[in-house]
Amino acid sequence: MPVHLNTAGAGLMPAEVVDTMNAHLAQEAAEGAYETELRHADILEKGVYEELAAVLDAPVDDLALFDSATRAWTAVVSALHLTDADRVWITPYEYAGNLILWTELRRRTGLRIEVVPLLPSGDLDLDWMRRTIREDVAVVSVPHVPSGCGIVNPVEEIGRILTPWPCLYLVDACQSVGQLDVSVRQIGCDLLTGAGRKFLCGPRGTGFAAVGPRLRAAAAPVFHDLHAADMTAADHYEVHTDGARRFEYAERSGAAVRGLDAALRHHRARTARPGTGHDARAAVRDAVAALPGTRLIDPGTRHASILTFDCAHLPAARIRDELAAHGVNVWVAQGNHTPLYLPGQGVDHAVRVSPHHYTSTQDTEVFARALRHVIR
Ligand SMILES: Cc1ncc(COP(=O)(O)O)c(C=O)c1O
Repeated sequence: MPVHLNTAGAGLMPAEVVDTMNAHLAQEAAEGAYETELRHADILEKGVYEELAAVLDAPVDDLALFDSATRAWTAVVSALHLTDADRVWITPYEYAGNLILWTELRRRTGLRIEVVPLLPSGDLDLDWMRRTIREDVAVVSVPHVPSGCGIVNPVEEIGRILTPWPCLYLVDACQSVGQLDVSVRQIGCDLLTGAGRKFLCGPRGTGFAAVGPRLRAAAAPVFHDLHAADMTAADHYEVHTDGARRFEYAERSGAAVRGLDAALRHHRARTARPGTGHDARAAVRDAVAALPGTRLIDPGTRHASILTFDCAHLPAARIRDELAAHGVNVWVAQGNHTPLYLPGQGVDHAVRVSPHHYTSTQDTEVFARALRHVIR
């Protein structure tokens, strides 16, 4: 088995997740997919939302499931009413997919996009936010942890700054849920989105959103699917829920949703026990920093379990491929996936290393040894 240091791509699914999904698929094949769905309605319609509510510390009514974090983000953000009178604050760490939507919304509505400045440390300039915030800031969008480096943005503190203001507060928690404590209540955000497959170690094809009541009241989705709306006359439909599930689509993979439920349960059981205390990120960092020509791309003062680096004399893809030949999985972070930050640091491609709870001392030693062979 390779040493898996690509959790920021997709974490390793625990056996319970795989077994649950396999059993669900087998039952669908043997008994019919709709029939299997009905049999597991307690989990698919209720239990998985309760698990997610416990993990995110969010009300059940605020939760919706999707097939990716991007789908969650676009389903909700595209339903916002924004105009040319609105200012949208983003940060240099905004994920490229989210930024594509902001760019399109600006083209359609004329809204203004402003980028929160950074301090020399790479931390967001919170004093600038405190000084500059006004009534016409309609939305503030912050990734808890970005795609291309390991900074942890202070989403709770930002929440406190924004509380007196009318703006909607959106947090992309795709890279933080599963590795950091994430509490929607404590952050005080109106939207928080994430994916099942990363640090939660759920299946691919799962994503979620916590959509607070303020945002739900302000949003006007262009479409509601049949689990949330009925045609009540030939030319009229009615939406029969104001819960966040109205942003969902009705069709979904039962196996994936049950896999997500199993991953959430596994995560809760694991985090209730004390950890091993092994600081895998620090071990990875030391191994990288010891080698000639390497540069850590590691802004900020608080860090999550993602470490990015490049090397003056070896392309990132070559480092990934050679580490794979040594039995170590890492990934290539593309600069243009964190387009307002990484290209400005001269990063086109970088190596992204993302250990998780399953990374042992031995694993980080294997990584360090392999890296010494690859980078000389
Ligand atoms: C910070 C961040 N936001 C959003 C996404 C998008 O997630 P998905 O691929 O599930 O749409 C990613 C994916 O890597 C990410 O790193």
